[in-house]
Amino acid sequence: MQAITESPSQAGSAAIEASFSIEPMSPTIGAEIGDIDLTRPLDDGQYGALRAALLKHKLLVFRDQDISAAQQVALARRFGELEVHPVFPHHPEHPELVMLGGDSKIPGRENVYHSDVSWRARPSMGSMLRCIECPKVGGDTIWVNMAEAYARLPEATRTALDGLIAVHDLLPAFGTRMTPEEREARRAAFPPAMHPVVRTHPETGERVLYVNEAFTTHLANYIEKHEVRFGFDFRLAEMDLLQYLYRQAAAPEYQVRLKWRPNTIAFWDNRSTQHYAIQDYFPARRSMLRATIIGDVPV
Ligand code: SIN
Repeated sequence: MQAITESPSQAGSAAIEASFSIEPMSPTIGAEIGDIDLTRPLDDGQYGALRAALLKHKLLVFRDQDISAAQQVALARRFGELEVHPVFPHHPEHPELVMLGGDSKIPGRENVYHSDVSWRARPSMGSMLRCIECPKVGGDTIWVNMAEAYARLPEATRTALDGLIAVHDLLPAFGTRMTPEEREARRAAFPPAMHPVVRTHPETGERVLYVNEAFTTHLANYIEKHEVRFGFDFRLAEMDLLQYLYRQAAAPEYQVRLKWRPNTIAFWDNRSTQHYAIQDYFPARRSMLRATIIGDVPV
């Protein structure tokens, strides 16, 4: 068994000895974790080392973990309180697990770059996704390191983003699945949330580009921040900037792509990443269970 020490600067926490193996998946994001049995509760050492590895690699992948739904809930809960999603269907016995994927009737619809539930006032810290069933070929998922995407922006662009606030809304993405009455009820329960365009990761201090094409609808204070010719170009300039920022997630240099197998688990940090579930497998069946851990108010 390989023991790896995460240095404080890399992991954002005190140096921690890991009792499992860590194999980076790309230079920018993702690591495969081996020599660990997730059917057993994590001890404090394993928990600390996994949390440090998550902060460093942003996406952790575990293979061949034949755990039950109850074990998945318990494992995810070790990292924080779990949310119940207001739109996705839930596991019949565990409302904290949403059922995702597609089949011969409905294609999976998570093929858009996003950070989970960024439309909440307190969006997600992380998500834990387990593959129950997947096609032999297709249905991969891409993750993107959004701290790297921010760090590589031109300096003038980074300066232009300082102080900008973005509006995130669940309705553009989920509203098409609702009746008008349901839309009205969800609008009342989940008003649009406002978050900084660039957030500071609460554990590592990294600056992260935090807008996504699924949920970010517009900027709340673009006019205040930028001198624009009001009726002329304030909306267009704002939309151009947002489009440019959305596109950063599509840069392969910041990405990693995972090929799933049944009993693969992916655990990612929603505060510093986005992801995209590739919909190239319809009408094959892909069945996934996701636990979503509640995070902080972004600052
Ligand atoms: C998600 O968007 O959280 C699900 C990703 C996937 O199904 O691969």
